[in-house]
Amino acid sequence: VTDPYFARLLASLTAPDAGYARPADDAAGGVVDWDLEVGEARYPLPVDVRSDIGRVVAELGRVWYSSPVGEAALQNAYQDHVGLPVDSRCPAQVLVTAGGKEAAWLAVRYLLHRGEVAAALVPSPGWEPYRLWLQAAGCVRIPYDPLALAEAPMLLRQWLIDAAVRPGLLIVNYPHNPTGAAVSQAGMDEIVQIAAEHGLFVVSDEVYRVFGQDGVSAVFAPDRDLARHFVVDSCSKALTVAGLRVGFLLADAGIVADLAAFRAAYASCTSVLTQRVATLLLDSDVVRAWLGEVRAAVNSDREVVAAALTDRGVQVVSHGGLYVWCRTPDPAALAEVPQGGSARFTPGGGFGAPDHFRLCVARAGLDPAAAVDAVVSTLRRH
Ligand SMILES: Cc1ncc(COP(=O)(O)O)c(C=O)c1O
Repeated sequence: VTDPYFARLLASLTAPDAGYARPADDAAGGVVDWDLEVGEARYPLPVDVRSDIGRVVAELGRVWYSSPVGEAALQNAYQDHVGLPVDSRCPAQVLVTAGGKEAAWLAVRYLLHRGEVAAALVPSPGWEPYRLWLQAAGCVRIPYDPLALAEAPMLLRQWLIDAAVRPGLLIVNYPHNPTGAAVSQAGMDEIVQIAAEHGLFVVSDEVYRVFGQDGVSAVFAPDRDLARHFVVDSCSKALTVAGLRVGFLLADAGIVADLAAFRAAYASCTSVLTQRVATLLLDSDVVRAWLGEVRAAVNSDREVVAAALTDRGVQVVSHGGLYVWCRTPDPAALAEVPQGGSARFTPGGGFGAPDHFRLCVARAGLDPAAAVDAVVSTLRRH
């Protein structure tokens, strides 16, 4: 038996030019002054919150299997966090996963099995796993510009007409990695409406939602069909706990039950320990207030970094959420930075845009001016 999915994915991941999920090359990178590479918010949890985590873990006398679908307390805390009106909440529509990546993979894999998805519209530049998974499944990828769609959702109609192969799936990711593009709720509603009109499956990857404005979500779109339009979410970025590994997939209750059964075939359940901690963090007023401060710091640091890069002659294509997305300049065109230091950041190749790079500015204690000096110095050396 050969499994083309596994074989193709492995071939992509181990190809000589593959970069996905490879640790930073220390020989080339060494120790850097500013590590702006990994796409997560890096802010230490407040001391009080750490004590609370210690307390709830100490109280966990029964570390037994959880329900394969997830703990009810976490499903409820999550629906509260999204802001679903009380009368439309339904814990059975929330599958708890080991992070947003697993939720996204399950969503794509499930929708492809529903059939008639010869092609999928995917944001480009965009998060590399979507490309890897679709490629492994033999699904044609039709790239679209996430900045253009955010600005004019009606473009989707034209792209559907223009597509050589009819797309059956639309992947959206707002706020977007790596461009930071964001849509308004009206824009999201329109995207879902057009998708519904054209019979598209949708995966709305909202792992950066709290870093956008006003908690925009496909869950609020009036035309959302829970059996066809899935939402992927995660605690990783939103609560600055990427290592906790707790994510969510929102869909129709019957589909969530099927996915829970499928998931239980390889992973039994999501850790009860991490589910308990995630519930605490989602429910905590202290965490809510602290995250408000974190978001304000990220937004202000990002604005300063983007402006300073522009001043130095680096073209900032866009910025939003955790990210600043830039075109890679000609190093010779950059002015020298005395004692600029070094920075690590993400080349655009994995996102499908090799002549670009992404900075993640969400770092506690970031000195935006010093970080920009280090970025420009590093660009000049390459
Ligand atoms: C667009 C997008 N979706 C999903 C994820 C996965 O997040 P998690 O750490 O929760 O698996 C990421 C992480 O970088 C991401 O950028």
